[in-house]
Amino acid sequence: MGQTISFQPVRLGAAPDGSAPVGPAATAPVAPSHIADVLGVVVSHVWLNDEYRHLVLEAPEPAPLARAGQFFNLECPHTAEDKPFLRRPMSLYRADPVHGIVEFLYKVTGVGTRGLASIKVGRTMRLLGPLGVGFSIPDGARSIVVLGRGVGLATLAPLAEMAAARGVGVTAILSARSAATVMSVERFAAIGATIQIVLDQDGTSDPANVERILREAAAVGRADAFYTCGSNRLMLLMQRLGRELSIPGEVALEQQMACGLGMCFCCVRNFSVDGVVEARRVCTDGPVFRLDEAMPW
Ligand SMILES: Cc1cc2nc3c(=O)[nH]c(=O)nc-3n(C[C@H](O)[C@H](O)[C@H](O)COP(=O)(O)OP(=O)(O)OC[C@H]3O[C@@H](n4cnc5c(N)ncnc54)[C@H](O)[C@@H]3O)c2cc1C
Ligand code: FES
Repeated sequence: MGQTISFQPVRLGAAPDGSAPVGPAATAPVAPSHIADVLGVVVSHVWLNDEYRHLVLEAPEPAPLARAGQFFNLECPHTAEDKPFLRRPMSLYRADPVHGIVEFLYKVTGVGTRGLASIKVGRTMRLLGPLGVGFSIPDGARSIVVLGRGVGLATLAPLAEMAAARGVGVTAILSARSAATVMSVERFAAIGATIQIVLDQDGTSDPANVERILREAAAVGRADAFYTCGSNRLMLLMQRLGRELSIPGEVALEQQMACGLGMCFCCVRNFSVDGVVEARRVCTDGPVFRLDEAMPW
């Protein structure tokens, strides 16, 4: 087993043997030509429930040119209790280039997000980005399935909108602990997605039930590509079905990060590429990767 470091973003393409496709070909530019550290102004910052906050910033270009699946390194303010040293990576939740708006949805979990939660409307904060490689939709796809859990749904919402803007149908399987913590339902509903909410609360988030929903979508021709974010268990399920049913896919991965720019190598994860384990940086080679090459965490 050799181990190499990939320095190039890996996009989805044809199978190594040239037979069935194993990943969608990129149909859109996925990274803007420039990244900048800009000053944003907080225009809204509200709790959505006990755990999640929605942050809306007015920010100059290139920030509002971000694409689905890309992320920013956000400055997290210090508080009396918390002094986050590094910025924290956050996926784009929504970008509006016309009005110069970028939005984030985050779960308050530790030092950085507690600091972030303290920032008030009207204050400024720095955001570095857009960073990383975003989602791609295969040429000719008529319908895709997105499967997310928890805050992973925030990452998938802009992908669903990108698909709808191209006339691609969306089946959205939204997984959460309870009905109170399902994120982004209105975003998926607004684009006319077929929505399936699966919960730990009533047992519907069980992988066997999710597998049934995925198989049904594939059987009726609604699964030209699979996308997932937010759960190792669901990623493995989608990966297995993707291989079995020859459905290409992508996964948005997380890893703790420092620079976000490809220089410190603290975000490296292993990928299985044609039987060889390769190390790649989540910040610049991803965070969106081919589903069939991702390894469990
Ligand atoms: C590309 C990318 C996009 C992201 N998008 C979002 C988003 O849209 N919304 C959101 O809420 N979060 C997102 N995250 C996670 C986010 O960056 C923070 O790591 C997370 O919010 C915890 O930060 P914290 O400072 O509050 O917690 P910390 O105090 O830093 O950590 C709390 C605990 O979580 C662990 N931890 C921290 N970060 C990670 C990680 N990335 N993976 C695994 N374990 C970790 C720590 O080891 C510690 O045990 C994203 C991460 C990446 C890499
Ligand atoms: S965070 Fe520094 S290389 Fe990825």
